[in-house]
Amino acid sequence: MSTSASTLTMRPFDRAEIPLLHAALTTHADLVLWSGTQLHWPLTQDQLRSYVDNANVDHMILSAVADHDTVVGHASVRVTPAHRSARIGRVLVYPDHRGRGYGAALMTAVLDIIFGQRGLHRASLGVFQHNARALGLYERLGFTREGVLRDVALVDGEWWPLVEMGLLETEYQQPRVDPRP
Ligand SMILES: CC(C)(COP(=O)(O)OP(=O)(O)OC[C@H]1O[C@@H](n2cnc3c(N)ncnc32)[C@H](O)[C@@H]1OP(=O)(O)O)[C@@H](O)C(=O)NCCC(=O)NCCS
Repeated sequence: MSTSASTLTMRPFDRAEIPLLHAALTTHADLVLWSGTQLHWPLTQDQLRSYVDNANVDHMILSAVADHDTVVGHASVRVTPAHRSARIGRVLVYPDHRGRGYGAALMTAVLDIIFGQRGLHRASLGVFQHNARALGLYERLGFTREGVLRDVALVDGEWWPLVEMGLLETEYQQPRVDPRP
């Protein structure tokens, strides 16, 4: 059964969701695609607890929640207030919920936090070059490819290049939504 992606909201990640997140990352490739090179394989729930414990007002670790309080995704946003910029990371739609528009809804909600709520100037992210689904999603939202970092990760004997992407407040075309009560 599918739910409407348009009703998705972001809220702080709950530590009780660590097993759900851990279960979604079943291979080294899954882990690196999601998190880059900072976490180590094999992934433990202790590593995820340390990651979650870093959360604060300028390092938001978020869950995407759909109808009936169903957690469908995850993202992090690290804000650099002095330079009015934000780094988006750890974007994930849980496997059972992919392909229904939640990725787009999640990113739209994250960009609303960055540009609408926080009034920032620039959003950036990195995406591995072979991740066509994520690259297409970010390009449809207006992100520009700003460069390629070569051989950033080594996964199962293969080097993975990373595409750096950026979006400025003047380029963000999504309609502003009214603040939620
Ligand atoms: C990338 C990810 C977040 C997308 O989430 P999703 O809910 O499946 O995304 P959506 O349903 O909103 O959109 C997917 C789009 O990609 C398209 N798509 C699907 N498979 C594709 C592929 N192999 N190549 C290119 N595009 C693809 C879909 O057609 C859809 O396009 P549309 O909006 O024009 O219909 C999700 O697949 C995921 O969590 N992947 C694993 C972790 C990851 O890669 N995170 C990103 C780190 S940078």
